[in-house]
Amino acid sequence: MTVSVREVAALAKVSVGTVSNVMNRPEKVSPDTVERVQAAIRTLGFVRNDAARQLRAGRSRSIGLVVLDVGNPFFTDLARGAENRAAEAGLTVLLGNSDDDEERENAYLDLFEEQRVHGVLISPIGDAADRLARLRERGTPTVLLDRQSDNHNFSSVSVDDPAGGYTAARHLLEIGRRRLAFVGGPVSLQQVTDRLAGARLAVAEQPGATLEVIETAALSVLEGRAAGEALLARAATARPDAIFAANDLLAMGVLQALNMNGQVLVPGDIALIGYDDIAFASAAVVPLSSVRQPSELIGHTAVDLLLREATEGADAEHEQIVFQPELIVRASTGG
Ligand code: RIB
Repeated sequence: MTVSVREVAALAKVSVGTVSNVMNRPEKVSPDTVERVQAAIRTLGFVRNDAARQLRAGRSRSIGLVVLDVGNPFFTDLARGAENRAAEAGLTVLLGNSDDDEERENAYLDLFEEQRVHGVLISPIGDAADRLARLRERGTPTVLLDRQSDNHNFSSVSVDDPAGGYTAARHLLEIGRRRLAFVGGPVSLQQVTDRLAGARLAVAEQPGATLEVIETAALSVLEGRAAGEALLARAATARPDAIFAANDLLAMGVLQALNMNGQVLVPGDIALIGYDDIAFASAAVVPLSSVRQPSELIGHTAVDLLLREATEGADAEHEQIVFQPELIVRASTGG
């Protein structure tokens, strides 16, 4: 049997409006009344009906967040930043994991729209522009994460991935490596193509340097491990002398394969750099050099933009915020 607001008001000897104020605007109620109402709520086991409140308010107090891979600490750090900023505005975050699957991505977008979320933050798999435009036209503000909105139709928060790829490859060249390999994929992912493009630019500027591309099926530890084992199967002279992995999970997998082999030393034989600078990078058996993305700040900033769009409505001006990546040098490249 569900407990009603009226029963809480009767037990606490206050009006229904005062109960609502205690739950939504406690600063407007005297402390002892707040305590008396909260005691009545605990005694009766009252749970507020957010669906009814949503119907009245037209919007839920939640933000829908769709990430590419919830197993990647980059996205959980990003989610933490979004959650902290949302909490400051009295909002919560509902996390959905598309797992690089467009059907799952669309299912979450449908669910968040039906739930009338306050807005949607999404790191899209492919070109979701049409689907996201419909979402916004029907009243759900949307901000792109980790992907710049190049036609300025959406607000977005991302990192300059071409610059990040250039920085990673330039660092390997500056420590004297010349036979570089880029390990990453699928190349259909914008983050991968942008990082590779930056690396190609750096290599093109260095006489005598080469860049081999080893495409992977995903940006995962297992795919990195497989790429590392494939390199070990080559003759030593056919291996690269440096590897730029498109993210830290791949780099961790490559490091695992090389380290377990024991014959090939990092960085002595092969220097290794990743991307994201997740917590595991500094804790790796050979501390991993990486290109840092401000993951929590990306999440925090995206909620800022979303709140502004939710307030300003359909004619809100869209803003594309692009952070610059930062080179973090550790033992895996001789730091
Ligand atoms: O999801 C793939 C990658 O893109 C993550 O590792 C992070 O680098 C993001 O930008």
